[in-house]
Amino acid sequence: MILDGQSPDAIRQAAVLLRAGGLVAFPTETVYGLGADAASDAAVAGIFAAKGRPSDHPLIVHVAAGAPGAEAVSRFAQPLPPFAELLEKVFWPGPLTLIVARRPGVGAAAAGGQDTIGLRCPAHPVAQALLAACLAQGVPGLAGPSANRFGRVSPTTAAHVHDEFGDSLMVIDGGPCHVGIESTIIDCSRGVPVLLRPGGITRAQIEAACGERVRDPAELAQPDPRASGTLEAHYAPQAKVRLMDARALQTGLDVLGAEAAHIAVWSRSLLKSRSQRVLQRRMPDDAVAAAQQLFAVLREFDAGGARLIWIETPPDAPEWEGVRDRLRRAAAAD
Ligand code: TXA
Ligand code: MG
Repeated sequence: MILDGQSPDAIRQAAVLLRAGGLVAFPTETVYGLGADAASDAAVAGIFAAKGRPSDHPLIVHVAAGAPGAEAVSRFAQPLPPFAELLEKVFWPGPLTLIVARRPGVGAAAAGGQDTIGLRCPAHPVAQALLAACLAQGVPGLAGPSANRFGRVSPTTAAHVHDEFGDSLMVIDGGPCHVGIESTIIDCSRGVPVLLRPGGITRAQIEAACGERVRDPAELAQPDPRASGTLEAHYAPQAKVRLMDARALQTGLDVLGAEAAHIAVWSRSLLKSRSQRVLQRRMPDDAVAAAQQLFAVLREFDAGGARLIWIETPPDAPEWEGVRDRLRRAAAAD
């Protein structure tokens, strides 16, 4: 069932369901999340069951903005290191997740049993309204992975969530997500900022805000914490995805000619096909706009019957890191 996020009544209804241990999908500025009371291990178990996600994969806990949110942070986390506090000040509410040391005895299921916890304060007004209503019900934060089945394309509209889970799930509609790819994840539990997942907030922005160089997991000796968003094959549509430069794409289309079918193309370059049956969409030249459209385009291609999705390799520029990452993983699935 899809409810209007502008309706205070819908928000109240959702908070009551969450308080009772239920699941509610909610909009954020990045993608839609599948929410449950983060302080209740039983409620969180419902997320893992619904997604088909292994229960040792940690989830992100969403908290309200301002003083109530700060209180929630100190409920779930140990005191933040100074560079993490700087990041929180600059980017919250916004598309940044911080992995920090967890307070023992709270949020164990949400954290997938790890001694760290992922925290994020989303900027979407409907998410904030829901988090405030949850606080009023005694729910300190919402565990919320992307509202898709494990390994699949993240949802950026309420209709996408409905397609994933059907009518039995309560979905709060907040319109299409404007960032379109998941939050940037910075691990703050290792003394220096470590980039676990690139997103809308770039490395350069993180470095400027906290004055520390951002490390890659491979630079550190310890093994990575488990992160399904960082699995090699993830974000996969039904069709196979392949990345190619514009010349290779045009050659493929030329060779197949009028026979080409079940092929979809997402490219910045203008390409020509002699077949009416090739689905073509233009990738924006701007990384922010491309990110916003990415998952919706993959879903549209799947729905259009594509069996093969050819995508023009995005530019090798820093602002494209998040898009490159998602496309590389989509193409890694076989
Ligand atoms: O933009 C987003 O972050 C969206 C929206 C709904 O907020 N959420 C999202 O959640 O992408 P999810 O569960 O699909 O991805 C969360 C990522 C996973 O890769 C997870 O493993 C990682 O965050 N993560 C969460 N807690 C962690 C922890 N304690 N240590 C390491 N990785 C963690
Ligand atoms: Mg996900």
